[in-house]
Amino acid sequence: MIEKKAIEKAARLLLDSKAAIVLTGAGISTESGIPDFRGEDGIWKKYKPEIYGNIQALLKDPSKFWQLAEDVAPTLFNAEPNPGHYALAELEKMNIVKAIITQNIDELHQKAGAVIVYEVHGNINRFSCMGCRASYIKEQILKKLKKEKPPLCDFCAMPLRPSVVLFGENLPNFEKYMSVDIAKKSDLMLIAGSSLSVAPVCDLPIFTLANKGKLIIVNNQPTYMDEKAEVVINNKTGIVLPLIVKEIKNIKFERGKHS
Ligand code: APR
Repeated sequence: MIEKKAIEKAARLLLDSKAAIVLTGAGISTESGIPDFRGEDGIWKKYKPEIYGNIQALLKDPSKFWQLAEDVAPTLFNAEPNPGHYALAELEKMNIVKAIITQNIDELHQKAGAVIVYEVHGNINRFSCMGCRASYIKEQILKKLKKEKPPLCDFCAMPLRPSVVLFGENLPNFEKYMSVDIAKKSDLMLIAGSSLSVAPVCDLPIFTLANKGKLIIVNNQPTYMDEKAEVVINNKTGIVLPLIVKEIKNIKFERGKHS
């Protein structure tokens, strides 16, 4: 049962904010069929991140990484946005949310219509050669995977890799600096579907708090920031976020009636 009071409070905070931003994690995409990393059926429960998810492992044995990639690729490539993604895109259209910082690589925020999206962990639809940096798109990789694993570069025959951030790698500079800058200037951060367990992204809420900003957390597991948040709703983002948007519209209607 979702507390009506928490939805109302979250809606008011968002409606009365001046520079609200959103931080999302893999939890917002599980209702689109994409497994998260640390939830009940998280990817890291099946694949050890130190073997499958870090840059040293990829350099040592790219075929291990591609084994994981092939396992999750079909769900990743065929996934569609869920009501949680659409709710956030609507908050951006209502000019309430100024930007979405996402740790997700699935492009579902953009597919749902969101525009200002900072992909701090990269994107699964771009690939490059680990040798000469030649770039490839998803369709080329899918064709290559039918004949070779790992897929190799047409020019230098080195293995290819997706443009995603692995453990032990830096975040893309632009997204890293932009996400810190907007977190520092934000008066409200809505955190949706993240365990807040991976640096440096998990530090972003601290910048908003340092700016006297407030936090709203929607996650179906507790996070280390819960006691600092104004509102914590432990339930599905695909249910909660649309309820918050609906409540915002109700409040706007009521205010319109009395203005
Ligand atoms: N609604 C709300 N919360 C959900 C839902 C849902 N439908 N599904 C899962 N969750 C919660 C999980 O309980 C978990 O607490 O979302 C959170 C997802 O946390 P993680 O799996 O740790 O994902 P994330 O926070 O995005 O991880 C950050 O870690 O492995 C790296 O690069 C990877 O970007 C990833 C980063």
